[in-house]
Amino acid sequence: MSERVYNFSAGPSMLPVDVMTDAAAQILDYEGSGMSVMEMSHRSKPFEKIITEAEANLRTLMGIPDDYDVLFVQGGATLLFAMVPLNLMQNGKADYVVSGQWADKAQKEAAKFGDARVVASSKDSNYTFIPKPAADEYRKDADYVHITWNNTIYGTKWPVIPDTNGVTLVTDMSSSILSEKVDVSKFGLIYAGAQKNVGPAGVSIVIVRKDLVGHVRANTPTYLDFKIHADNGSLYNTPPAWCIYIAGEVFKSLLAKGGISAMEAINKRKAAKLYDYIDASRLYSAPAAKEDRSLMNVVFVTGNEELDKKFVAEAKAEGLVQLGGHRSIGGMRASIYNAMPEEGVDKLIAFMKDFESRNA
Ligand SMILES: Cc1ncc(COP(=O)(O)O)c(C=O)c1O
Repeated sequence: MSERVYNFSAGPSMLPVDVMTDAAAQILDYEGSGMSVMEMSHRSKPFEKIITEAEANLRTLMGIPDDYDVLFVQGGATLLFAMVPLNLMQNGKADYVVSGQWADKAQKEAAKFGDARVVASSKDSNYTFIPKPAADEYRKDADYVHITWNNTIYGTKWPVIPDTNGVTLVTDMSSSILSEKVDVSKFGLIYAGAQKNVGPAGVSIVIVRKDLVGHVRANTPTYLDFKIHADNGSLYNTPPAWCIYIAGEVFKSLLAKGGISAMEAINKRKAAKLYDYIDASRLYSAPAAKEDRSLMNVVFVTGNEELDKKFVAEAKAEGLVQLGGHRSIGGMRASIYNAMPEEGVDKLIAFMKDFESRNA
């Protein structure tokens, strides 16, 4: 087998090796059942235990209060761009903060169903900062305010939970869930695709306050109603069982490693050493506003497109892969999710130093 690389992809991205090793050991015979989780009925006892434990462990990890439902659904964060307005837009009004392309896509999807106003946008500054409206800029009668907690493409994140003037706050946490402590009770709804910090692509997590469930608009397809999933323990139809199983194993592994506070400390250390080096270097710079810097996606450039391409190619030859920036902005992006070992970040910095000494 070839050696594993340090994979800095924005997603799908690295998963914990302990989880994959354990899953590999059980791939043909899960806990003496004589079959793989992939072959198992989602109504069977072993799978019931898998999904129940996954939910319970996620609740423990994130401190999710009892008045919230936790749902495992399919369709990625992209389908949630539609499910959120279909379920929550009772007055037909929502305010969106557009801090990147994903936020823009969420807003455009919601605009199909009602008045999805762009309350602020940093598009004119290439999304290098998080626009932060004052509380009274949000409409009091909006059904919700939507923000994108971490902007995967631009490497920015909200430094604080915004004051929305009492309006329900909804957030896309696809690229930062489980990376730092968040007070779930400050949000009406949190959603995230799995393929960064949670598990394989194919399952999304929805954490929604119970009073927001059960008001879906008429003619909404059954699958898109949060209530159908809440009432059926995410087992209304055949769920992405393998993805839920791996997600559950990731949750167990995170708990064993000290939970989110432990991950947050490591993530802060990993990001700080990378940003500190970039700030001190003469070759590299980070376009994102300092106060809004992401812990998960570190975006940087040399200022010379050809040199950026050379960097990405040479890094790849050293086993540091997927360092190219998003195709829409170029440059470099190091995605350093929970499963990226600190050693990977150290190796990246060592490579950056060497590249700088040869190309400054
Ligand atoms: C913040 C954010 N939201 C939404 C998406 C889209 O997610 P999915 O591919 O699961 O639909 C992504 C994908 O990278 C993302 O980073």
